[in-house]
Amino acid sequence: MSDHLNIRLFRFNPEIDVEPRFEELQVPTFENMAILDVVMHIQNYLDRSLSFRFSCRVGMCGSCALYVNGRPRLACRTQVSALKTQNITIMPLPNLPIIRDLVVDMEPFFEKWKKIKPYYVSRKDIVDPVVVHPDSNEREFIDEMLDCIACGCCYGACSMAATNEEFLGPPALNRAYTLIADKRDAIRVERLKVVDKSYGVWRCHTQFNCSEVCPKNIVPTRSIQNLKKRCVLKKIGVFK
Ligand code: SF4
Ligand code: SF4
Ligand code: FES
Repeated sequence: MSDHLNIRLFRFNPEIDVEPRFEELQVPTFENMAILDVVMHIQNYLDRSLSFRFSCRVGMCGSCALYVNGRPRLACRTQVSALKTQNITIMPLPNLPIIRDLVVDMEPFFEKWKKIKPYYVSRKDIVDPVVVHPDSNEREFIDEMLDCIACGCCYGACSMAATNEEFLGPPALNRAYTLIADKRDAIRVERLKVVDKSYGVWRCHTQFNCSEVCPKNIVPTRSIQNLKKRCVLKKIGVFK
């Protein structure tokens, strides 16, 4: 690895900038350096005013997603060496309004989560606690989908989210699927009605951009296809 990186950094301060601009910076490298280390170096030693978000540093909180060399990635889990180049362009996550520099407004993203009611609602006829065994088919079916950390990488990669403000997007649809697949949930049919819309599952063009970038190896496209199947089953009266 070279002893320095050539960084092209997106900057935008709405209080002083008329439009966004790029800054060219050099950052020294060290072993096992991640993109989060790069932006922290810039903030610590080159420009204190740089804004970005992070919290856990271990790929759990989902707050550090950035657009790095043309792809949404978690800054804390992206090793500089994995990019295999000295030239790195760092930008905010696409498809969300920019607040400042690398910080985007996640409100439109979570508004879409709210629409699918992202929490479990227990059926009245079920006496809690209900045990779902970890190795049961029912649990294994949605196993990987439950690992979503709401980082927004898939949302930033989705061309339909880019072109249609209303589209619920891959993370909310993935979450909806995990709940609709749960027979204990009292509002599965209601949830299915929310996603069975032109701005819901039917907007997805099955191009897998979302699935290619998910840091948790979730395949939201598969969840969306499963939702489409259930929408059809509901229309012919098989899904209850
Ligand atoms: S597969 Fe669907 S949800 Fe995923 S990126 Fe493509 S259009 Fe978006
Ligand atoms: S599905 Fe993957 S990429 Fe999308 S928000 Fe969840 S963890 Fe992030
Ligand atoms: S800082 Fe929490 S996921 Fe990167």
